[in-house]
Amino acid sequence: MWAELLPVGRDPAGGYRRFAFTPPELECRAWFAEQARRRALPVERDANGNLFAWWLPPDGRRGGAVLTGSHLDSVPGGGAFDGPLGVVSAFAAIDALRARGAVPSRPVGVAAFAEEEGARFGVACLGSRLLTGTIDPDRARGLRDGSGRSFAAVLAEHGLDPALIGPDDDLLGRCACFVELHIEQGRGLDVPVGAASAIVPHGRWRFGFTGAGDHAGTTALADRRDPMLPFARTVLAARSAAERFGAVATVGKAEIVPGGVNAIPSSVTAWLDARGPVDDAVRRTVAEVARAARDAASAHGVAVDVAEESYSPAVAFRRELLDRIIRVLGGVPVLPTGAGHDAGVLAARLPTAMLFVRNPTGVSHAPAEHAEPSDVAAGVAALTAVLADLAGA
Ligand code: GLV
Ligand code: MN
Ligand code: MN
Ligand code: MN
Repeated sequence: MWAELLPVGRDPAGGYRRFAFTPPELECRAWFAEQARRRALPVERDANGNLFAWWLPPDGRRGGAVLTGSHLDSVPGGGAFDGPLGVVSAFAAIDALRARGAVPSRPVGVAAFAEEEGARFGVACLGSRLLTGTIDPDRARGLRDGSGRSFAAVLAEHGLDPALIGPDDDLLGRCACFVELHIEQGRGLDVPVGAASAIVPHGRWRFGFTGAGDHAGTTALADRRDPMLPFARTVLAARSAAERFGAVATVGKAEIVPGGVNAIPSSVTAWLDARGPVDDAVRRTVAEVARAARDAASAHGVAVDVAEESYSPAVAFRRELLDRIIRVLGGVPVLPTGAGHDAGVLAARLPTAMLFVRNPTGVSHAPAEHAEPSDVAAGVAALTAVLADLAGA
């Protein structure tokens, strides 16, 4: 099953490019439906574009479900494991339970959440945020991708009614808990499997610099309103503010308009990702970067607009579920993560936990992300044991 997914959505620049509702991600969704069909698991697509495959108990009950899974979309140039590992492991765990003749006493659901990375519409975990009511559906409908297409239009194009997106209390009410298995995304594990204690606070901010486009050869330095200059100052300020407040800050994406070698740009839009151990570290970092951006913009006659696109406060996973998982697995390391996950969003509504599989490269959101097959097998075995315990299988 893993081998069928591997060729899908390779980024010509390396790694994977599987943006939500683009052809490669639709191919991943078709793969998901095919995996469910092979296992005779009914598939449900909710109004927000999230997918679920259900392994139902013999009495057909739909409530009290144990939900697992992750996401199939990727960042540009992403690794093979971030997201798909959790979905593939979920199907593999169901296979392992069935192979030993287990029958669940409550439903087990395999989820693939939509637009987890926010790589297309800008807000990470968009599908799970909508499901849990942590983003206003009106705002979600109006989100636009890089080509200007709205999320509403894209949903409609794929047979979903944009008027119906938003919280789904019926679906959440059918779920007792969520356990997401994920590749570990740093150098946090020196054994095959661990569990998450917490997700650090993190967010995204958009900085729009508007200057005046002009000729690179004929415009005197004194006459320029070049948005590139405050943009460059802002990138450096992100680094120094993060160092000062004990956070991390990244400018990983920028759009330069019009993008001519021999033209002073008319505008630059840049996105800041900031994360830290506590909210205050993130807030102070972003405030300092915004101040530096405004100061530099005003020094160069450039207008600047700073907007918060999303913010996720710290999430501490529910201790009782974590303790239960640690007991089932006979003890595993427990670690916080600087990466965001649907589990962090669902934690507001359900007891939620995460299992991590060791990543020997320590690299993620890049092609070098890796997991050894033996560690993947250990992850599947751990998820199998956890599902057996939680679903009474
Ligand atoms: C998503 O993976 C994130 O941590 O930004
Ligand atoms: Mn990711
Ligand atoms: Mn992920
Ligand atoms: Mn993530």
